[in-house]
Amino acid sequence: MAVRALWFSDGTLHLLDQRRLPLRRTVLHLRKVSAVAEAIRNLTVRGAPAIGVAGAYGMALAAREGRHTPASASRLLASTLPTAHDLFVGIETVRSAWAEGNDPLEAADAYRAKIVGECLAIGDAGARLFPDGARVLTHCNAGALATVQWGTALAPLRVVHARGQKLFVWVDETRPVLQGSRLTAWELKEEGIPFSVIADNAAGHFMHTGEVDSVIVGADRIARNGDVANKIGTYEKAVVARENGIPFYVAAPWSTFDAKSPDGSKIPVEERSSSEVESFGGVRSTPPGSSARNPAFDITPAKYVTGFVTPRGVLRAGSIARALERYARPDPAVG
Ligand code: MRU
Repeated sequence: MAVRALWFSDGTLHLLDQRRLPLRRTVLHLRKVSAVAEAIRNLTVRGAPAIGVAGAYGMALAAREGRHTPASASRLLASTLPTAHDLFVGIETVRSAWAEGNDPLEAADAYRAKIVGECLAIGDAGARLFPDGARVLTHCNAGALATVQWGTALAPLRVVHARGQKLFVWVDETRPVLQGSRLTAWELKEEGIPFSVIADNAAGHFMHTGEVDSVIVGADRIARNGDVANKIGTYEKAVVARENGIPFYVAAPWSTFDAKSPDGSKIPVEERSSSEVESFGGVRSTPPGSSARNPAFDITPAKYVTGFVTPRGVLRAGSIARALERYARPDPAVG
């Protein structure tokens, strides 16, 4: 599996520039925490677990620069994006190691290894949900690009494909930033997994015509009761899946679970620039003077989620609180 969203060597964080995929495979080389913060803000690196790891390495770069404290570097990185819980876990993991006199880079490396290991475990845990011939719908990109390696939603699909099972993936294009048609399609193509890209509006149609057996998505934050923040449009897919009797799964490492949020009502939802909605492919698609809204995420109530694919198996919403006490790190103070 060759796709990797980021890696660290020679005092440099290397990021595959996800804004340019699939047309160009460009790598950015960052040596300053301010550059990492900007890369998180502008979606050069994206996907909750991947920005958590980028945040961890951003802290390690800040420690090398010599002009930041653990607290100031943490504040800078935590101010970039509000929704993905993983970002705050990645930052806090390295902040506390640094503040306690441990090597920040070692802490960041260990954090990356933990996330990659959890994604591998999600792949094994989730594979049993997809029988031979499964036709699976996914929204946004929850693959290797979003997690460093393997993915969350895409990890079980990689496992069943590697086992030689027949598999077909419906890929929602995911307006307005097109993480589905640009990034998920690119990953599946690299892997040789059969897929079709569909307009976001077409997902309900294919569920209704009986051409979707199950849905699996990633998450940016999961509350203790199982409410899920994920890419805008996820909520609609979950409701239509329920209406059509189709199982709806959410896959995530422990860093995505937010033990401090009892439910989804207080999860901050980022609103991005309206220009992403007002144009398509760089060409304006609305009349000048139109107004537009652009929430980047929505909240799917736990009642629509059939199961949570975690590194420790597939859980029901009611088991999340107990699982977090056993497996998750203490929650970060920021975020
Ligand atoms: O704005 P993005 O591209 O970072 O949004 C990403 C998503 O919504 C993903 O589904 C989520 O981060 C899970 S990634 C494993």
